[in-house]
Amino acid sequence: MHNYENWCIFVPRFTDINLNIFLYDRTMKNILIIGSTGQIGSELTMKLRGIYTGNVVAGYIPGAEPKGELLESGPSEIVDITNAAQIGAVVDKYNIDTIYNLAALLSAVAENKPQLAWHIGIDGLMNVLEVSREKHCAVFTPSSIGSFGPNAPKDGTPQDTIQQPRTMYGVTKVTGELLSNYYALKFGVDTRSVRFPGLISYVTPPGGGTTDYAVDIYYSAVQGKKFVCPIAAGTLMDMMYMPDALRAAIEIMEADPTRLEHRNSFNIASMSFDPECIYQKIKEYIPEFEMEYQVDPLRQGIADSWPNKLDDTCARMEWDWKPEYDLDAMTKDMIEKLRIKFGINK
Ligand code: SER
Repeated sequence: MHNYENWCIFVPRFTDINLNIFLYDRTMKNILIIGSTGQIGSELTMKLRGIYTGNVVAGYIPGAEPKGELLESGPSEIVDITNAAQIGAVVDKYNIDTIYNLAALLSAVAENKPQLAWHIGIDGLMNVLEVSREKHCAVFTPSSIGSFGPNAPKDGTPQDTIQQPRTMYGVTKVTGELLSNYYALKFGVDTRSVRFPGLISYVTPPGGGTTDYAVDIYYSAVQGKKFVCPIAAGTLMDMMYMPDALRAAIEIMEADPTRLEHRNSFNIASMSFDPECIYQKIKEYIPEFEMEYQVDPLRQGIADSWPNKLDDTCARMEWDWKPEYDLDAMTKDMIEKLRIKFGINK
């Protein structure tokens, strides 16, 4: 269904014939999501299908097939990011104009498989960018708080600062930012991105991230289990509730390009906390909840090299970014939704 509010008047830029006005529907997009069954993809695909009237294609790799609503609500295709021909064929088949490239290994997994992390993160991105250059697609590729390293300012980490990550995850993210900017400047490919904080959701569990403790803690709390925290008290990291993250991914792709001073990639932020802080917040809702620490040296080392809190002023100025959820609002919603998910009446 077309919604009248989504129709816009489009005045071509390089014409003096002012009668040359077209009506076009902003919701008409053909979108391919690569990595549609992952932590972000499974929710983003459904949200995009709720907004856009064109084909929203769920790209997946064998072994990670879409199921249920994700499978039934729209087309899906095998799209391995390391196979450029496969990406190109799906782009042609559905006349794709926008690609959300969500294929990646998270930070702790990438440390154990650095070659594979590079292959997916960078060789894969190169395939996406090349297809997009040829076939004129816009591209969203998320970056991360992991794109900074220990030499960046820890508090109020600026938009433009030193990015010398020491993890393979971070190396692929900062390389991805540079490569995406290169394709925008050199070839005019419409690449855009945000640096995601740790993402928290009750839908699809993440796998192998450093910030994942902040998801796992809610699962333990709601199921009445003691939580064993792999990150030390006092370790601050940026976090974000998934609804805000999904909105950010869509809003940056919808942003007015004439206002964008930056492209790849924007700092975005909504909350920053350490394990003690989230534990105390959950206890306000579940007073009997218990937690102990068993610090994982791999994850702790990664977390220690990341910022405490990003400065997202540029995103706020250039495309009106504004988060909706703070720690309290997120905690309330997570507990409520996980109780429904596990059939727990309280
Ligand atoms: N959530 C990611 C990770 O921990 C960071 O962006 O790997």
